[in-house]
Amino acid sequence: LQNFLTPHRLAGRKVLITAGATREDIDPVRFISNRSSGKMGYAIANAAIAEGADVILISGNSNLPPPANAQLISVYSAQDMYEAVMFNIESADIFIAAAAVADYRPAQVAIQKLKKTAQAELHLPLERTTDILGEVAKLEKRPFTVGFAAETQNVANYAWEKLSRKKLNMIAANQVGKNQGFDMDENALLVLWEGGEQDLGYGLKQDLAVDLLDLVIKRFMLTKH
Ligand code: CTP
Ligand code: CA
Repeated sequence: LQNFLTPHRLAGRKVLITAGATREDIDPVRFISNRSSGKMGYAIANAAIAEGADVILISGNSNLPPPANAQLISVYSAQDMYEAVMFNIESADIFIAAAAVADYRPAQVAIQKLKKTAQAELHLPLERTTDILGEVAKLEKRPFTVGFAAETQNVANYAWEKLSRKKLNMIAANQVGKNQGFDMDENALLVLWEGGEQDLGYGLKQDLAVDLLDLVIKRFMLTKH
């Protein structure tokens, strides 16, 4: 029914969305990850489908059911997600990075399970992963590019800084921490773009996704795409 009520403002448009948590292997049985459930990204995918978009959802770890009528590409690590995004980015009109991507991964993945030793401390060298959002924003023919900013403090300040440093079209900022943001059904989003902002307030991720996508569509229509 929803499909008949919404105006399909994204008919014929290709929307690429990342969601969920990446996993960075330490050894064959251990990895580094984060608390992301994928709920925000999957909700955005569903909202974009309801607007008639061709949706490609590139997802790290998540237990959510695949959205009907989207192309789901499941990935494991930040590097896998980066490669899947770059492979599919051509002709995308809108890119929304909702995934919680590891910033660092173990510099070496042990082939055998690491055994504990007599040492009281273990130091695990980490190396930077590729900033997927940053690389998309640098593309010559880039889509309308939307990032998220998960912060435990100074949400607005850090988000304005990320918007301009990564040259994004829009950023959705949220406060995360214990019982906030990650792995919850509700969230609170502050959306920023050059010259404007809107506080979407606190609510269900499904509802916030619809409101965020509405802002994305309005800004997208105003830019030359
Ligand atoms: N992101 C990404 N690739 C990475 C890291 C982050 O695409 N390797 C994206 C996330 O999907 C999100 C945005 O970048 O849309 C911001 O993520 P966040 O962790 O808040 O910011 P960072 O730029 O990674 O900075 P920091 O973690 O230091 O706050
Ligand atoms: Ca980060």
